[in-house]
Amino acid sequence: MPIPFRATPGCPASSRRLGAALLEQGAITTAPSGEPELELVCGPEGLTLVAHQASGSALALNIDLVGGARGYRHARAGHAREDLVRALGRLPRGSRILDASAGLGRDALVLAARGFEVVAIERNPVLAALLCDAMERASGHPALGASLDRLSLVQADVRDWLSGNDRIFDAAMFDPMFPPRRKDAEVKKEMRVLHRLLGANPDPDAPETLLMLLEHVRRCVVVKRPLHAPALGGRPPARSLRGRSTRFDVYLPARAGDQSSARAGAG
Ligand SMILES: C[S@@+](CC[C@H](N)C(=O)[O-])C[C@H]1O[C@@H](n2cnc3c(N)ncnc32)[C@H](O)[C@@H]1O
Repeated sequence: MPIPFRATPGCPASSRRLGAALLEQGAITTAPSGEPELELVCGPEGLTLVAHQASGSALALNIDLVGGARGYRHARAGHAREDLVRALGRLPRGSRILDASAGLGRDALVLAARGFEVVAIERNPVLAALLCDAMERASGHPALGASLDRLSLVQADVRDWLSGNDRIFDAAMFDPMFPPRRKDAEVKKEMRVLHRLLGANPDPDAPETLLMLLEHVRRCVVVKRPLHAPALGGRPPARSLRGRSTRFDVYLPARAGDQSSARAGAG
């Protein structure tokens, strides 16, 4: 079902262009019928996804890569001590990392801030547009600009994007959606909007995606999981790094030749 789209005064031209592309794909509509549950609104701060609640209140998701706890400060604080970076092991700056689940772009930005060349893939067209919009707004930021230069965003299903080609990355990270287990009110606002957008069981194909990612990396695939969640697809990782609420499961590619060439290539 296409999501209703509304442009309000002050909507930047670049955000309008993203809206036009979504309209062409049929992901949004400018002629909604009835009371929308979700709405994409373009205003002075770019694209915002609004989830209307039964209570009459609304939750808004506007990706801000510069401000707030999730923004630039977070990316900068990440660096070597960030669990995700530690889980990837010793990879030199400039290593090519595939983020197979771009989402809100937080992990991709941490990786780019670390000096990796990151390709981030997001299959949901509305979410990809929200992130692309945020990246455009942040690109002029004096310190964030360099990280964003190392980050490219692709709107595609990563399995389609990888199939039938020989793209090989030094490593990949994968953070599929996990069904909410806690009461709705306890789940972070942005994740609640994401769940409304992506549905109750958004990434059922995640185990197969992991297998495919393993075919396209030299070093490893890092899968992000809630701390006590079972391993993805029941597949035991080679090792795990446990944080306060998150676990990073590290999988190694099956072919021994790939691993030795990774060691040689990664220095
Ligand atoms: C939990 S979110 C990722 C959050 C992200 N790590 C961040 O830092 O903001 C999961 C995202 O992965 C995307 N995703 C899952 N499987 C995918 C696939 N096969 N191809 C592309 N995107 C995928 C979903 O659409 C969803 O937006």
